[in-house]
Amino acid sequence: MYSGQSIAITGAGGGIGRAIAEKFIAGGANVAISDIDTDLVEKTATEIGAVGFTCDVTNEQAIKDFIQGAETANGPIDVFVSNAGVGFPDQPGGHAAGGSNESWEISWQIHVMSSVYASRALLPGWIRRGQGRFVIVASAAGLLTQLFSGSYTATKHAAVAFAEYLAIMHKDDGLKVHCICPQYVKTNMTKGMQVIKDGPNIHLEASDVADSLFTAMADDKFLVLSHPVIADYQQVKLADIDQYIAKMAHIKQKVDTGHIPGFKET
Ligand SMILES: NC(=O)c1ccc[n+]([C@@H]2O[C@H](COP(=O)([O-])OP(=O)(O)OC[C@H]3O[C@@H](n4cnc5c(N)ncnc54)[C@H](O)[C@@H]3O)[C@@H](O)[C@H]2O)c1
Repeated sequence: MYSGQSIAITGAGGGIGRAIAEKFIAGGANVAISDIDTDLVEKTATEIGAVGFTCDVTNEQAIKDFIQGAETANGPIDVFVSNAGVGFPDQPGGHAAGGSNESWEISWQIHVMSSVYASRALLPGWIRRGQGRFVIVASAAGLLTQLFSGSYTATKHAAVAFAEYLAIMHKDDGLKVHCICPQYVKTNMTKGMQVIKDGPNIHLEASDVADSLFTAMADDKFLVLSHPVIADYQQVKLADIDQYIAKMAHIKQKVDTGHIPGFKET
């Protein structure tokens, strides 16, 4: 289905971005990957058969250069995956506003502005062609709450909001938008975290998230919930926000006492 298409993915030196790249390549697509980590992205590109670029997604010109490089290599981009992400915990033992201003600003740039920059570069061409697919790798934290990281929670909510906004504003232009909202996935981001081996909150493999994206693209679904239980949690939140807050506060207590995994910095 994606054979011969031109795909560009940010933050794809490893983890979920790499898994998505591999799945597209297996389907015959031509893939450009980028990452802020030059050595990692070059190694990964060679291993999987992609073209690799260094790109810091907080820099609008770097995103433009990545898009231009990807289009020179593979032709006009059909699918752009905005995947790069970082996590900063609040200061240990501190309060909800305890994260540094710098960590909030970087999170905003990486999780939100990078998608604004990429869509600013891509939308004029996609609107002309009447097609294009924009994928935002947000998080279940963008629908619910990431305990112990205010910057991650707030900026992932903004990532989901921007994905919804793109989908609504450009549906009539033929744009398809998908928003991936996983819970725990075994990648560098969760390295060192206690792994949940089974049950609804299981740590998935990155390839499971890629599979969920492909199912959602085939079914034309906006929301990609690789952990289906997130839909149940969303229902609780929508039905009764006070009950949701009470439940989340209870889970926070369990994390405090070491009964379930907490947030881990990349
Ligand atoms: N692992 C999880 O449990 C999980 C759950 C929900 C959502 N996510 C999201 O999935 C996405 C991919 O994360 P992952 O789990 O594969 O972790 P990861 O750490 O393997 O991948 C993130 C990549 O982003 C790159 N990156 C960081 N800052 C960058 C910048 N300024 N410019 C370009 N690249 C940059 C890193 O070098 C890294 O290769 C992130 O947006 C993350 O928030 C992860």
